[in-house]
Amino acid sequence: MSVIFRARVLDTPDDPFAGGSLRSGDDVGLLVDNGIITARGEFAAVRIDAPDAQVVDLRDGVLIPGLVDTHVHFPQVHVIGGLGMPLLDWLERCALPEEARLADRAYAEQIAREFLSGVLAAGTTSAMVFGAHFATAMDAFFGEAARVGMRATAGLVVSDRILRSDLLTSPTRAYEESRALIDTWHGRGRLRYAVTPRFALSASGPMLESCQQLVKDTPDLFVTSHVNENNREIAEVAALFPDSRDYVDCYDQYGLLGRRTILAHNVHPKPAELAALASASASVSHCPTSNASLGSGFFPLREHLDAGVRVALGSDVGGGTGFSLFKEGLQAYFVQQLLGDKGVQLTPAHLLYLATAAGAQALDLAETVGDLSVGKSFDAVLVQPATGSTLDVCLKNAADPSDALAKMFVLGTAYDVAKVWIGGDAVHSRD
Ligand code: GUN
Ligand code: ZN
Repeated sequence: MSVIFRARVLDTPDDPFAGGSLRSGDDVGLLVDNGIITARGEFAAVRIDAPDAQVVDLRDGVLIPGLVDTHVHFPQVHVIGGLGMPLLDWLERCALPEEARLADRAYAEQIAREFLSGVLAAGTTSAMVFGAHFATAMDAFFGEAARVGMRATAGLVVSDRILRSDLLTSPTRAYEESRALIDTWHGRGRLRYAVTPRFALSASGPMLESCQQLVKDTPDLFVTSHVNENNREIAEVAALFPDSRDYVDCYDQYGLLGRRTILAHNVHPKPAELAALASASASVSHCPTSNASLGSGFFPLREHLDAGVRVALGSDVGGGTGFSLFKEGLQAYFVQQLLGDKGVQLTPAHLLYLATAAGAQALDLAETVGDLSVGKSFDAVLVQPATGSTLDVCLKNAADPSDALAKMFVLGTAYDVAKVWIGGDAVHSRD
């Protein structure tokens, strides 16, 4: 069935870090057939070529591409708001006790439902989802993600040291359980599998070897983990891996860096680590509210850009403070401002790019999502604040499209997300 979505549209098909700018249209027609955008132009022109298509008029709001969260933990919904601790204390006191509860499949199903409805309500349509330590919980997660139609890449979290004992497994069991999940879920609908060692601190050499074996056996898998988040963590990893040149090298030595690798944080990278990430075409997920909340540090975006490392945004719930990528974009902007001369001057177009097209590239989904061009899937978010709200009056009085986008990032919340589509399917409606 053909549908023309008629809307004011903002997107960033051309990378603003490489000279591109915001694309905007006040009365755009997006012709969508079977979930794919097949024509785009002025509404009147698109209408002439598709006189029989149903028209969905969205001109009361602003349409943007579906948001892409490159790092978010599904088991951590209930631990959002654990303030006042650095990373390793926060893990021990807040995150890991909750993660242990996901051994119960029924509880994991409940959390997966809560997670997915929260993520979709925030306008996130694609995500690299950090999983749980239990295969049953992951099976529950994938089942729920398939049911709601989320574009999710996720996997079993594996660890064999340091963490509380009920979260540990062995390299052999990690391999076998991951294998079974891959066989069931990888490539099914919109789901893909990510090999997920929690971080080098909790994964021994043999565990990373079992991860490497999974990638060797199925080369189109993704890999995700954490790196260089916190100074104490970095020192402990260095002591545990005396033969590795640095933290990134712990993963590189086991063949875990590639085009389909996303490492979260990288707040304290060395030049050699940035060079290794760039040459592998691996991506870094920048999680600014988490970095601020856990006191991890100021993300060196300039150094990543200069080294040619791909960067996108992550909410890092529950270290992060919620699912909204508007908030992450705003916090990314604050961090760069606070860095003064060392920071990058981010415009609203940069923020939208980091929250959409950059994430699509990190997830190797750039052919499918990230902007609203012909050939892309109709993954989209209608931002339509309540009439009379501050965002509403600000949008109505915005000086230009860039100003409107700035207002969206500064004031926008999940309550302003009226409707969300993935592949042309409505997956969330506020009312
Ligand atoms: N490093 C290892 N596990 C975690 C986690 O759950 N959250 C964050 N922010 N960092 C981690
Ligand atoms: Zn994380």
